[in-house]
Formats: sequence, C-alpha cells, structure tokens
Amino acid sequence: MTSAKAQFGQFFTPRAVVRFALSLLEAIGARLPGACVCDPACGPGEWLSAALEAGAAEAVGMDCDAAMLRPWRESGLADDGRATLAIADSLDPALRLAARADLVLGNPPFGTQLAGATDLQLGRYAEHYRLPLPGRAPTAGPSPQALARLRRYPRELLFLERFVGICRPDGWIAIVLPEGVFTNRRRRHVREWLLARVTLHHVVGLPRATFRAHATAARTCLAIMQRRQPEPGHEVLLSVADDCAQEGLDALLQLLRDPSTAEAQAALPDLTPPILRD
Ligand SMILES: C[S@@+](CC[C@H](N)C(=O)[O-])C[C@H]1O[C@@H](n2cnc3c(N)ncnc32)[C@H](O)[C@@H]1O
Repeated sequence: MTSAKAQFGQFFTPRAVVRFALSLLEAIGARLPGACVCDPACGPGEWLSAALEAGAAEAVGMDCDAAMLRPWRESGLADDGRATLAIADSLDPALRLAARADLVLGNPPFGTQLAGATDLQLGRYAEHYRLPLPGRAPTAGPSPQALARLRRYPRELLFLERFVGICRPDGWIAIVLPEGVFTNRRRRHVREWLLARVTLHHVVGLPRATFRAHATAARTCLAIMQRRQPEPGHEVLLSVADDCAQEGLDALLQLLRDPSTAEAQAALPDLTPPILRD
C-alpha cells in the first residue's frame, strides 16, 4: 500500500458506483438539477463531476492531499465555474460548512485513525464532534484520556458526523462506509446517533472487488439517507450488489426502483436488518 493510501485512506469510487448512487437518490426523490452538492473528502472529484453532469448548479469539494490538484486540473473540474475546490482538512470545524449542501456525497477515508493528528487538531475535533466522546458536556475541555481515545477513533465515523452536519435539513446523503458501521455490536452507538437524525432509505452491500484497483478488499456498503427524522414504521431497504460493473448495477437499480414487484421480491435477498438486530 502506498503511503498516501495508508495515511489518507485513498480508495477512489468507481464511476459506475457513483452513477448508481446518484440514480438511486433521484429515484427516491432527491433532485440534482440546480442543487448544491458537497464531497468533503473528494479525492480526484468523481462524485462532484458526475453530479455536475447530472445538472447540479454548484459543487464544493475538499481534500487534504495537495496531490489532488493535478487530477482536478486534468479532469477540467478545477476550471469549471460551478466548482469550488480546496486543499483542506474538512473535519476542521473552523471550516464553516454546516447545513450548506442539498446533497452530501462521497466515500470518506476508511481504515485509518486519527493517529497522525496534532493535539491542536484533536482538541478541535473533541470540541465539535459528539460521536467519539458520547456524553461529554460540550463545555468541558477534553481530558488526556479523551484525546487518546479520539486518536484511535475511526476517521470514517467523524466523517459520517460531518456529512450529516454539512447536509441541510431535508437534504440527501450518499456515503460509502465499511459494512461494520451497520453490523458491528460496538458500533451500536453510531447507529443510534444516526437513526435519530436521518431517515435511512437504502443500505447496499458493495462487492469486495469495488476497491480492488486500490488494493483493498474491505467490505463496504453504500448508504442512502435523508436528513430528516424517520416516520414511525419507516423501513430500510437492504440489498447486495453482486458486481460493480455498470450492467449489474443498472439491473439492481431497476429492482430497487420498484421493490414491490414480484421480480424484485424474488431477487432481493431476505436479510434480517442487522441495524435492528442488536
Ligand atoms: C476514500 S478516498 C475517496 C475519494 C472520493 N470521495 C471518491 O469517492 O473517489 C478519501 C479521500 O479523503 C481524503 N481525506 C482524508 N482525510 C481528509 C481530511 N481530513 N480532509 C479532507 N480530505 C481528507 C483523502 O486524501 C482521499 O482522497
């Protein structure tokens, strides 16, 4: 694994998966034309480019790695008047992004912790983010133990909190996360936190091959949600993508567009929602 991959968690999302996510969002009511979209960990900017192609009016992207300047220039994103791009730590609460975007899209870095963060950064994160240090009074300064705990905290979970914060009320989120966020017992507090703030519509298991080009076979899933509290009795649709080629994803999209059809009932796996299991 190259050092940028290990340090920044650089696993870029294949365009077919990005298109699938945008189509699924539109199928359940999100509107891309005229929208402001944000990817706070945008890498080369695949999600932003695809959203602009689908009619978004404004695309805001950040990445902490200055090496992304080159792909932004090569793809034309840097010269697109609708795009605002910055090399920045988008977890830094000093970047005022709260409730700005109609859609927050992307695949935040996973499999990395905050070990490389400075004490100053960690202190800022501890002030702002609620997930890593649940129950801590917002005014109390973080203790050394709390900072040490935060240092080991999975970066993707801070990003999950950041995605929800950036999204305007009633806006939409498409996010790729490690599957464990939805299945591991010790991530229960994350699910409780999330489900109190968003209506989760879809969790689609992605094939292990999705990020093979980046030398990882991590189990990941795509979660599609809206920033609004769920209605009583709301159900989450769980599905599994067998492959991440365009054709297979198009077929799955057809089934998810109308899950009540007999064809969909036969094809969608009968999964006990792990979210509700523990
Ligand atoms: C998994 S990659 C995904 C990139 C892109 N969203 C995609 O789906 O192709 C995560 C990106 O987040 C960037 N990143 C990691 N930590 C970051 C931070 N604190 N602020 C901004 N970007 C960050 C990495 O450099 C990497 O390009």
